[in-house]
Amino acid sequence: MANGKKLYIQTFGCQMNVRDSRRMASIMQSLSYEPTEEPSRADLILINTCSIRQEVEHKTYSALGRLRRLKARRPELILGAAGCVAQQEGEALLKRFPYLDLVVGTHQAHRLPELLRTVRERKERVAVTDFLDGNPDRFQGHTLQIPNPKSQIPNNGNRVKALVTIMEGCDNYCSYCIVPYVRGREVSRSSEDILREIRELARSGVKEVTLIGQNVNSYAGYGSNTLPSTDKGTALPGLLKLINEIAGLFRIRFTTSHPRDLSEELIKAFGRLEKLCEHIHLPLQSGSDFILRQMNRGYCREDYLRKVAELRRASPGIAISTDIMVGFPGEREEDFTDTLNLLEKVRFEAIFSFKFSPRPPTLASKLSGEIPEEEKSRRLRLLQAVQKQITLEKNRGLVGKEEEILVEGQSKRDPDWLTGRTLSNRVVNFPGEKSLVGQLVPVKITEAYQNSLKAEIL
Ligand code: 5AD
Ligand code: SF4
Repeated sequence: MANGKKLYIQTFGCQMNVRDSRRMASIMQSLSYEPTEEPSRADLILINTCSIRQEVEHKTYSALGRLRRLKARRPELILGAAGCVAQQEGEALLKRFPYLDLVVGTHQAHRLPELLRTVRERKERVAVTDFLDGNPDRFQGHTLQIPNPKSQIPNNGNRVKALVTIMEGCDNYCSYCIVPYVRGREVSRSSEDILREIRELARSGVKEVTLIGQNVNSYAGYGSNTLPSTDKGTALPGLLKLINEIAGLFRIRFTTSHPRDLSEELIKAFGRLEKLCEHIHLPLQSGSDFILRQMNRGYCREDYLRKVAELRRASPGIAISTDIMVGFPGEREEDFTDTLNLLEKVRFEAIFSFKFSPRPPTLASKLSGEIPEEEKSRRLRLLQAVQKQITLEKNRGLVGKEEEILVEGQSKRDPDWLTGRTLSNRVVNFPGEKSLVGQLVPVKITEAYQNSLKAEIL
């Protein structure tokens, strides 16, 4: 290593943040910063923050607070905040945490080397939070993710799977959501860039890509000769078709989808493209039409149920997961009951559930009809109990069935066991040799739990 410097990044929030952390690690690696798992050994520490709910935001503040001690011990240590809280707070973070050197907004990650120089050479503290909507610079560094065999950053986080950004930002303005404020306008990445990155990843041995963006269904096919340029309905299916042809790649996933923008063309892709995995994450939020309207989601309960039916028609084995929120302002008992019975009706493979958290300056943070905390907790507990049963029943239904697993690695607990996922994204553990990592392996499911399955190789 040229200068022997170490970088520690702690990441909060969604896959976009995970991807951004890997991108920042990769950018810094080109300046000879090697990643470390030990904050006490780092020369540069970045906290990649999230503000989606109050609780997550508090965690990121605690993480920033813990840095004080490290800086007191080693004043030469450089400390930075990136991500959504950095974007939201900007200079205010420098005031609140006087030992913080750097605040890097969500569109500014590519400037990390230059900002670091300013901190080091000019001894200045900097905060940059400009949005670069429409400026292709914001996607800079996205193709730096090619594995370096000597590197500790297993390319893109994992040698078998990679996250690939296809769009950023969000124009939906769901009334509860902070994302449009902290990630800016929706911008699609050029399809040439995306395809180039995936081809390189596949050449380097990556077997599965997940296309990510806040609302991938509205991918606009920017800058492509081969895709209908800005047709929201067909650009993603068109892109998927091209990715499906890439040699060496076994599996394709994409997330997150907005139910309103889930086109017929995209639904059909599940039945047509053999590499597209039988799984979709389709956030519902609520089963009540009244609440969905308040949330500005742009679909009703029936629309959602219709899309689910179409998905199952196109791909009978498709697994559907979702996000649900309880305790939105004005949520009556009958609204909550609508959500519960929609859960029973759809029978999702998995749900992620949250208590509504007011996020200024969103519209919902100003609504009256606040639900008391204990009531939110009660609804959340009920919801999770209903789903727990459904998930377990669905998982138990797989016992005795054959599944194809993409082996992701050795189990952390026991090196004689392997871990991987089914096409439907369920985690499966089974005894097997390390040499199978990165391969598709047929297994028989032997046991089912809440969050994983056990299997044996066929
Ligand atoms: N309060 C609670 N949950 C939220 N989510 C987004 N914003 C909020 C909020 N203000 C949830 C939604 C979204 C997931 C990523 O986080 O369910 O789909
Ligand atoms: Fe958190 Fe949303 Fe930012 Fe992702 S985009 S890090 S979920 S606030």
